[in-house]
Amino acid sequence: MIVVLTGAPGAGKGTQADLIAEKLGYKKISTGDALRRQIQIGSDIGKQAQSIMAEGRLVPDSVLLGILKSELDAAGSKPVLLDGYPRNLAQAKALQDLVGTGLIKAAVHLDVDYQSLANRITGRRTCVQCGASYHVANSPARVEGVCDKCGGSLIQRPDDDAEKVKTRLQIYENDTRPILDFYRDLGLYHRVDGNSPAPKVFAELSGLLQSLGT
Ligand code: AP5
Repeated sequence: MIVVLTGAPGAGKGTQADLIAEKLGYKKISTGDALRRQIQIGSDIGKQAQSIMAEGRLVPDSVLLGILKSELDAAGSKPVLLDGYPRNLAQAKALQDLVGTGLIKAAVHLDVDYQSLANRITGRRTCVQCGASYHVANSPARVEGVCDKCGGSLIQRPDDDAEKVKTRLQIYENDTRPILDFYRDLGLYHRVDGNSPAPKVFAELSGLLQSLGT
């Protein structure tokens, strides 16, 4: 069973996906995290993706499909939450072809006002070691620059500066937003208001997932 979690950059997908994995037992598949791991280990995929991601553009669909397949294989029988895939119509159709209709139970759109997104992204700090995410104002680490969970260093992602954020939001509008209608047409679309503090968003999101019987 698969739930797609979609939304603009900075909407809180990763934050909510971590909570759903921890509290509801889902396997979180984040294609952004998977790509960053490839960069960290210096693989061919990582080398190909690094500059594309740093510019805020989308990595080629063929690369993502390979990553998706291996992550889904590793998930076994657990319910899966997809964070960051699909990112365009071609990927949405590829996912349907890969898993068949029926396995995708819902596509949840985490909807956040545009003025909040840039602030959330530019204030984000990410742990180089475990990938945990913080925000300098909304959810700061206990010790500045140090991850609460593993003691790793906190950095600003290369694609999190104001210029790159503009590119990422434009790509979201052009390429990703059309998948909302794709899922509406399939009767799978649900909207969750992502503007509230993270615990309140989680309460709404987990309530929705439970009401869907997922
Ligand atoms: P990816 O890592 O998926 O980035 P993204 O979609 O741009 O999303 P973000 O990670 O920026 O934000 P988020 O929604 O997860 O928010 P978060 O919870 O961190 O992708 C990165 C790149 O990889 C892409 O640009 C592309 O190059 C490539 N890529 C990935 N998937 C791909 C695909 N399928 N095809 C092609 N290329 C692909 O929260 C953000 C901040 O806000 C944090 O600081 C957090 O603490 C804070 N925050 C969270 N929730 C709240 C809240 N409710 N209130 C206040 N602050 C909050």
